Amino acid sequence: MTITRRRFLTYLGLGTYAALVDPVAAAKQATFPLTRRKGKPPDFFEPIRPSREDKLILPPGFRFDVVCCWGDPLGSKSPQGEPEFFGFNNDFTCFFPIDALEGGKTTKEGLLWVNHEYPHPLFINKYPGKGRKTEQQIIAEKLSVGGSVLHIRREGNAWKHLPGSKFTRRLTVLYPQMATTGPASVRVPRATGTLANCSGGRTPWNTVLSCEEHFGIYNEPDEDGMRWSDVSGQEIDEHEFGWVVEVDPFGELQPMKHTALGRFDHESAALRIGPTGRLVYYMGDDEEDQHFYKYVSSGSYNSKTPRKDQRRLLSEGTLYAADFKRGKWLPIDMRRSDDKLQDYQNQASVLIHTKDAADALGATPLDRPEVCQVHPLDGTVYLSLTYNTAHGNLFGQVIRLIEDKDDPEGVSFQYEVFLAGGPQSGLACPDNLIFDKKGNLWVVCDIESPALNKGAYKSFGNNGIYVVPTSGPSAGDAFQFASGPVECELTGPSFNEDEGTLFLSVQHPGEETQTLDALTSHWPDGGNAIPKPAVVAITGFPSNR
Ligand code: FEO
Ligand code: CA
Ligand code: CA
Ligand code: CA
Repeated sequence: MTITRRRFLTYLGLGTYAALVDPVAAAKQATFPLTRRKGKPPDFFEPIRPSREDKLILPPGFRFDVVCCWGDPLGSKSPQGEPEFFGFNNDFTCFFPIDALEGGKTTKEGLLWVNHEYPHPLFINKYPGKGRKTEQQIIAEKLSVGGSVLHIRREGNAWKHLPGSKFTRRLTVLYPQMATTGPASVRVPRATGTLANCSGGRTPWNTVLSCEEHFGIYNEPDEDGMRWSDVSGQEIDEHEFGWVVEVDPFGELQPMKHTALGRFDHESAALRIGPTGRLVYYMGDDEEDQHFYKYVSSGSYNSKTPRKDQRRLLSEGTLYAADFKRGKWLPIDMRRSDDKLQDYQNQASVLIHTKDAADALGATPLDRPEVCQVHPLDGTVYLSLTYNTAHGNLFGQVIRLIEDKDDPEGVSFQYEVFLAGGPQSGLACPDNLIFDKKGNLWVVCDIESPALNKGAYKSFGNNGIYVVPTSGPSAGDAFQFASGPVECELTGPSFNEDEGTLFLSVQHPGEETQTLDALTSHWPDGGNAIPKPAVVAITGFPSNR
């Protein structure tokens, strides 16, 4: 559970160790980056090198299919009767075997939930980046975000999307009003649509939790915002966003926003079931100097309860924020806060202003706590801190949190740094994380597009995927598995049940394009084509890995 001295020296590298012994001799040998011998890569792939090519590059023996691209017709109709299409900036993906509601684990056919995070006004509307937006432009942007349910099937080696399936549909900002649950529903009884859907999680009853992240940019009337307030009546009510939205890909249950899980720049929701059956969701808030949270349900999970009742576990519970200095989970609850939340009228108001309430309680500000995941073998929680330039933390870290007595329902924990980004480890700005069943951590990086391949980020190439063993002699060593096209972020990785397929979002290729006659990427179509975000299915994993 802790970092040994041998391992600490390994982190430092032999050059630094020599400096402890003989600083003059060491200075003569100084190298950059610190060379530290890596262990053996996992045996199911041959690591690739960083690349600047406008391609999705995979190790030898692996291939990908584009499952769905921005703008692809879905063959379904919106509640308003309009034809639906695949949204922009696909992010979180989550695969449900087609027979999941009957307890099945079919690996070759299922429903794929996909988040659509934010629009690119130039690509969507030819909007030049300056000036007032029209109503038509704003509506097109509203239809480009939210989420998609795709019905997909593997035919031979290739994954295909089946347009017009009875399951296929979109959620957008124009989706009709959805109900809210939990303490803040007295103040926000319903919400129109969903947006800013970044990462997410899933429930044991086969629904998806889609996390609303940077909801604060849409009304902003300046060039950094989306300017939806340019047209009266098109602005959003920000109180309706910043929640965790539960969606049933099978369409039996209506979408709902669960206010008990707090309102902030929600990135992800990682589940662990506690010793008394309570659901525990760990959640990051993707903003500099913001906090890490967990929600513990009041009731216990029972797999025999009907689905419509199981979701009640998300409406009543305790939200905590993490105090890393003292290793304490702080309840964000007026009744348990020793008057630290006395400025708030009621618990609804506390939850609407979760970030401020966590501050008032003394929660620790972190360097963009984005995605968290629970280790499948030991239950510890891994959290990416992507970066915080203002702190000089340019490369980020992955930290590992260990609940005291291994009890996720408890209120104390310890933590350590599992992996430090930087040239010495070969990756920077860790963001999305997933585990495979063997306990390898898959780290997907998000170096900001304007910073890629320059200055401190010169050595990393385009954004990529890295596989990091969490045990054995190679624990903590990053081996590159994929490199994305120009200015993209690879995001939203998820496996199907037998881990024979990795679904992945290629988000915002060519994001820095300023005018349509000077495209910076042409992925995936190549030639002179406009770049398009797309979801791909990666296959080629050996069946015995
Ligand atoms: Fe939407 Fe935190 O990335
Ligand atoms: Ca993210
Ligand atoms: Ca990010
Ligand atoms: Ca992103």
